[in-house]
Amino acid sequence: MRDAVQATWGWDDAIQQAIFLERWDPSEREIVVVDGEDVGVISVTRGDAEVFLELIEIDPRHQGRGIGTRIIRDLVAETHGRGLPLRLHVLRANPAARRLYERLGFTVAEERSERYVMTCDPPRQ
Ligand SMILES: CC(C)(COP(=O)(O)OP(=O)(O)OC[C@H]1O[C@@H](n2cnc3c(N)ncnc32)[C@H](O)[C@@H]1OP(=O)(O)O)[C@@H](O)C(=O)NCCC(=O)NCCS
Repeated sequence: MRDAVQATWGWDDAIQQAIFLERWDPSEREIVVVDGEDVGVISVTRGDAEVFLELIEIDPRHQGRGIGTRIIRDLVAETHGRGLPLRLHVLRANPAARRLYERLGFTVAEERSERYVMTCDPPRQ
């Protein structure tokens, strides 16, 4: 996330370390494992009105291999199976991630100063 964070707020090791220590809660994280190897982390909040993908980060050595696509597709299927939208935030400074989400059916629901709120709504019955 460094490039997008740097472009949005600037990068400061001490600030990033403090944010990490304050907000990193392992109990809310799920580790992505492929062929027995830890390759990433996600965090999902499953609510009654929507499901929110709080975090998805794949180890740079494993990016671009379709892992993110697979995870998000599965999550969309699960969420739409409950008749709910899947939502997420993406920084304006992260156009590659936004492109991926658009390819997977997400649209921009709201434009904020630093980020977009994106949604993938369930098909109408
Ligand atoms: C975004 C991310 C989760 C996608 O997972 P992935 O397994 O690499 O994605 P896939 O292989 O399924 O799909 C490839 C697409 O992901 C996007 N992508 C690839 N590398 C990326 C990167 N470093 N940062 C952001 N998006 C990236 C591109 O849209 C790419 O498609 P393209 O090759 O046509 O440009 C992953 O690249 C990542 O962790 N990036 C850094 C952290 C981040 O940006 N997280 C999302 C925050 S909203």
